[in-house]
Amino acid sequence: MERRTSFCVAAQTNRPRVIHTRSVPTDWEAQYQKNETPWDKGSASPGLLDFLAGERVEGRVLVPGPGAGHDVRALAAQGAEVVGIDIAPSAIKAAESFPKARAERYICGDLFALPQELLGQFAWVWEHTCFCAIDPARRPDYVSAVHGALKPGGHLLAVFYLDPQNASPGEGPPFEVTLPELDRLFLPMFTLIREWLPTRAYPGRENREWMRLMKRS
Ligand SMILES: C[S@@+](CC[C@H](N)C(=O)[O-])C[C@H]1O[C@@H](n2cnc3c(N)ncnc32)[C@H](O)[C@@H]1O
Repeated sequence: MERRTSFCVAAQTNRPRVIHTRSVPTDWEAQYQKNETPWDKGSASPGLLDFLAGERVEGRVLVPGPGAGHDVRALAAQGAEVVGIDIAPSAIKAAESFPKARAERYICGDLFALPQELLGQFAWVWEHTCFCAIDPARRPDYVSAVHGALKPGGHLLAVFYLDPQNASPGEGPPFEVTLPELDRLFLPMFTLIREWLPTRAYPGRENREWMRLMKRS
């Protein structure tokens, strides 16, 4: 993923100090237009596929930041009614270029400003590389957004990218997260049902992801 940093000089010190900041948000549309989408592995999350092999995800499902929609199609193929919402028009175009699995649709929009008709509508949210893509300062907004999309008692199934092996902490996207931070962010609004190290992952992501199944309180 593109790393955008700016450099500023601290005037108070004798020696100029270079400070790396994340002052410029990622332009996701530009990434798709440049065809620089290293997160797109051309298939659904192995952790999701393994979960679906043993359990059903039924009813309406929201997938935030689905990119080219591989996970959306995997969920729709097993019978769910899936909505993917992505902020990048070119991601939606890419997702819609694939043959439809079954009940799937895409909305070009911002997870942080969900349309009214999506609020409280979903039995499930599937999270995969949207949480790690957003600015960590917006993580509380992410939790509120998925909580707001779910019906009471709805489930959040997630694969979190714990360790993207960033060169330095806080550099991203993808941004790392810890289990205590996940607890702090989610557990006030969700009950943890179960968590596990996915047996399979994309090559290179082995042992760096963590799955959680949570229920909206
Ligand atoms: C790292 S990509 C992951 C895409 C897909 N989940 C995958 O693994 O192939 C992150 C995606 O989130 C989308 N995104 C980022 N911020 C968003 C927001 N606020 N609302 C909706 N989508 C967003 C981006 O456009 C991008 O498609």
